[in-house]
Amino acid sequence: MNELVYGCMGLGGDWDGEEVTPEAVDAAERAVLAALDAGMTTFDHADIYRRGKAERAFGLVLRRHPGLRDRIRLQTKVGITLPSDDVVGHYDLSAQAIRTRTLACLERLGVDHVDTLLLHRPDPLMVPQEAADALHGLVADGLVGAVGVSNFSAAQMRSLQRHLDLPIAVNQLELSLHHRGFVEEGICVNTGSSTSAPFPEGTLEHCQEHGVQVQAWGSLAQGRYSGRLPEDSDGGDRRTARLVQRLADELQATREEIVLGWLMKHPARIAPVVGSTNPGRIAACAGARRVAEELSRQQWYALLTSARGVAVP
Ligand SMILES: NC(=O)c1ccc[n+]([C@@H]2O[C@H](COP(=O)([O-])OP(=O)(O)OC[C@H]3O[C@@H](n4cnc5c(N)ncnc54)[C@H](OP(=O)(O)O)[C@@H]3O)[C@@H](O)[C@H]2O)c1
Repeated sequence: MNELVYGCMGLGGDWDGEEVTPEAVDAAERAVLAALDAGMTTFDHADIYRRGKAERAFGLVLRRHPGLRDRIRLQTKVGITLPSDDVVGHYDLSAQAIRTRTLACLERLGVDHVDTLLLHRPDPLMVPQEAADALHGLVADGLVGAVGVSNFSAAQMRSLQRHLDLPIAVNQLELSLHHRGFVEEGICVNTGSSTSAPFPEGTLEHCQEHGVQVQAWGSLAQGRYSGRLPEDSDGGDRRTARLVQRLADELQATREEIVLGWLMKHPARIAPVVGSTNPGRIAACAGARRVAEELSRQQWYALLTSARGVAVP
């Protein structure tokens, strides 16, 4: 099922390891309520977001709204250690880290289980059997409903799946009109003319074949085409932003809905993760599914061509 997921990375205040302030909880509450109003019922976390403060703030919002936990799906991720004074940033998908960090997520969120647990990034030192055993244990104990991965290639998914008794339910990847390697990989076969960062070959196809939900992080491309041109933007970004506005006018949609609808039209049934904390911008995403259905092939390719700056090969 194709849906919008709400991304909670922006909730909880600064990345400072301090206590969550009441103001940050109020802001998180406004964002969560806007997401629910926009039809989003899956909430995406990670233990590292705001150094734990995103989960804490969300847990406090849940306390303010009894019954809300049962109406939503909670997803979180473990596996990244942020750098600090005496620690180099690294990944850790050892069995012990998977288990203890998941327990810490549950404590911060104030819940007895999450619906989905994702391994945040591939760890070159991960032993697939060991990671799988840790996931089995969490599921058997009722602490986690389903398991998934993030930023994994098809090969890495296969390697883990071989040791898992349960299916990998989700792969969360950076996908957008700007970060469009997932499309370039397919259309530039044998041409070497890709206009985006490389994307692991066959990963979307693997997800489609095995019923893995593809979630797109960075789906709004941080507003690049919908109102926030980045400092390093070029003429192509401005041209694409104008086209997004024109299509929004034609389809009586918002610019966010055009940008997300472009992703959702892909037959992999991509679920964009929306990371805005601005209630108005969250509301502006609500009709992306409708746009995905109405966007013509011509309009879809016009957006692609504008973003890549050159006609498809
Ligand atoms: N799996 C992973 O490795 C990974 C990595 C990164 C993120 N994520 C997940 O994906 C979610 C979304 O990722 P993301 O936040 O990088 O991407 P995003 O949804 O593309 O961008 C959201 C950011 O862009 C800003 N923005 C969007 N449109 C704007 C506009 N018109 N004007 C000004 N600012 C605008 C938002 O600011 P406002 O808040 O002011 O609207 C927010 O800071 C995160 O919350 C997280 O759950 C996962």
